[in-house]
Amino acid sequence: MQRPSPTKVILDTDPGVDDALAILLALASPELEVVGVTTVCGNVPVGQATKNLFRVLNLVKTPPGLLVGQGAARPLEEDLVTAVQVHGSDGLGELDSVLTAEGALRYPHVRLPPVLSTAQDVWSECVRRYPDEVTLITLGPLTNVALGLKVNPLTIQKFRSVIVMGGAIGVPGNIAPAAEFNMYVDPHAAHRVFQASLPLTLVPLDVTTRVGVTRERLTTWAAESCDPLGRITTDMTRKAFEFAETVEGHGLFYFHDPLAVLAAADSSLLKVEPFHVAVETDGRVSRGMTVADRRLRRPEEKTSPNMHVAVDVDVDRALSLLRNRLCPWS
Ligand code: RIB
Ligand code: CA
Repeated sequence: MQRPSPTKVILDTDPGVDDALAILLALASPELEVVGVTTVCGNVPVGQATKNLFRVLNLVKTPPGLLVGQGAARPLEEDLVTAVQVHGSDGLGELDSVLTAEGALRYPHVRLPPVLSTAQDVWSECVRRYPDEVTLITLGPLTNVALGLKVNPLTIQKFRSVIVMGGAIGVPGNIAPAAEFNMYVDPHAAHRVFQASLPLTLVPLDVTTRVGVTRERLTTWAAESCDPLGRITTDMTRKAFEFAETVEGHGLFYFHDPLAVLAAADSSLLKVEPFHVAVETDGRVSRGMTVADRRLRRPEEKTSPNMHVAVDVDVDRALSLLRNRLCPWS
């Protein structure tokens, strides 16, 4: 039976360690054709995110003609809050400290091209080339999407699907008690995006925190892998494990962004349900909180859904795919 043609995707990302693994995973997934990658401020300032993106792309073979662009440098209204405490000051787990036996950088920096496209230009070109075919996968705050709705609405409306890693529906937040990081950083952008009637699927902490590994388990995956990707994965995640072990205490690295990529590669991994979800933009303690209307009501009495929310995940299959693609055996 002929394999279906790959799904064309754009990754909008704030690398970030789990973003980096999501990018590598997407490039290693035969179900996906990565046609564009764009950066947004989030885990690190957007300039650092772009440097990190090029550094990650330099580690693997990238598709010819891959479009890369830089997006928003600050949230719509809030000051930028980063997550360097989790991802390291460079955003990639302090990669400069990883040296070869000769003392050189194992992961060299990459010079950026003299002229950088904007995220909006990349999105417009991808949609021009592949109208109604492209899935946008957002792995950071939704600032670029919100700006696109304002300055580039015809492009945004031509996305076939929008998969958003973010939010926390029935579980605590991470950056704040009530808020997940991507929603917290730019709640005003998330509010605009959630109101825009886009074909949106939310991949929240409710499912991403079910797909995690201990340092020991990831080290075993890498040790049994014969592919350089295995070593990259362990070298990049050391700092994140330190945070998970010493601050959070559970010691788990969560594959937040990689799960959003897997959702595009194999939608059967997630169980999704329609909900109306709102984002708190004004709350002193609840900024970025994502509130789904889960009240038991007759359908005609419910707030009409504005997205599908992932409520369950096939954990074993997701972990198996992550292992096979990030720490391949053959
Ligand atoms: O809350 C997890 C999300 O915030 C992930 O996308 C991670 O990279 C950070 O951006
Ligand atoms: Ca991210």
